[in-house]
Amino acid sequence: MVKKIVALGGDGIGPEVVDAAVQVLESMGLDIEIQKPLCGEVAIKRFGTPFPKEAMELTNESDAILFGATEQASVFILAYLRWGLDTYANLRPIKYYEGVPTPIKDPEGIDFLIVRENSEGLYPGREGDLSLLAEKLPDYRDRLGKSFADYGPGKFAIRVFTNKGCQRIAKFACEKARERKAKGFPGKVTCVTKSNVLRESCGLFQKTCEEVIKNYPELKYEHFYVDDMARRIIRFPKDMDVIVTSNMFGDILSDLAAELMGGLGMAPSACIGDKYAYFEPVHGSAPDIAGKGIANPTASILSSVLMLDYLGMKDKAEELENAVKAVYKEGKVLTPDMGGKAKTTDFTRAVIEKLK
Ligand code: IPM
Ligand code: MN
Repeated sequence: MVKKIVALGGDGIGPEVVDAAVQVLESMGLDIEIQKPLCGEVAIKRFGTPFPKEAMELTNESDAILFGATEQASVFILAYLRWGLDTYANLRPIKYYEGVPTPIKDPEGIDFLIVRENSEGLYPGREGDLSLLAEKLPDYRDRLGKSFADYGPGKFAIRVFTNKGCQRIAKFACEKARERKAKGFPGKVTCVTKSNVLRESCGLFQKTCEEVIKNYPELKYEHFYVDDMARRIIRFPKDMDVIVTSNMFGDILSDLAAELMGGLGMAPSACIGDKYAYFEPVHGSAPDIAGKGIANPTASILSSVLMLDYLGMKDKAEELENAVKAVYKEGKVLTPDMGGKAKTTDFTRAVIEKLK
């Protein structure tokens, strides 16, 4: 059966890097059909909305979605992909490829996975004036014994963790650790929270991970506070296997960890739910270089690798990953973020050449 892919470029360099990934995929002669509806900044200019009906319908009918990047225009698309489609598990593999320029000493062998909870925490943006909480929760007291009214004017943000949200992400992380263990990785889940301060919300996340891991006796488990973990990721990157954490911590730690693999130009992601999945680079829209044709499409191409894997085309996924690997190993075609002079199209062509 032909798989239906929809490519949504989004904003800034998003359309450029997604186009590159689409070109590479189209060169592979796969059983896929890729639709490229207008969306993002260009769609606002044409239709007055970043996510026209056609794009949304194709998204709803898709087997997988390739997404580019978000500036302001496409925040709505991102929200739809994450909350509308309930893609709750955001997988961010951190893997070093030989030849990629990096300031890290001895990066060979860095290969771990960040599993970021993608639906809860601070991200749904439940914010407002403190006066609202003071009015609705007059009897609430914080750890200091103060009410919301005691603080005077200000703003709040509410961070929500649900039992269901914690359970499903903990299970997802354990399943991934099990899969990795079968491939020779250590089989370890590292839970990251700030439960020393956020005893209720992070406490629930940690407790749930500790419960869920009991169903996986073959896996090792550890827990670190997020500040300590930031340090450990840099200091002991090869001790990592599967890291599971909440939404905002995962956002921050994945940018940090991306540096271990050569920077944001390299880092891919997969956002997976029970019915839908979308694939996007960890990087943003990079408005400073948008339209110049010099964006590094590697993260988008590696996101397509994750997509092929998700679609069950494991051999093709490996083939494409090997082509990217070969380009870096040779080290002749590097985009400016990697210290080279290659254009997006040069890099794309180099990957397509390696696939032949
Ligand atoms: C990411 C991005 C997004 C996030 C932004 C664009 C909202 O930084 O995918 O990591 O914070 O999740
Ligand atoms: Mn981010």
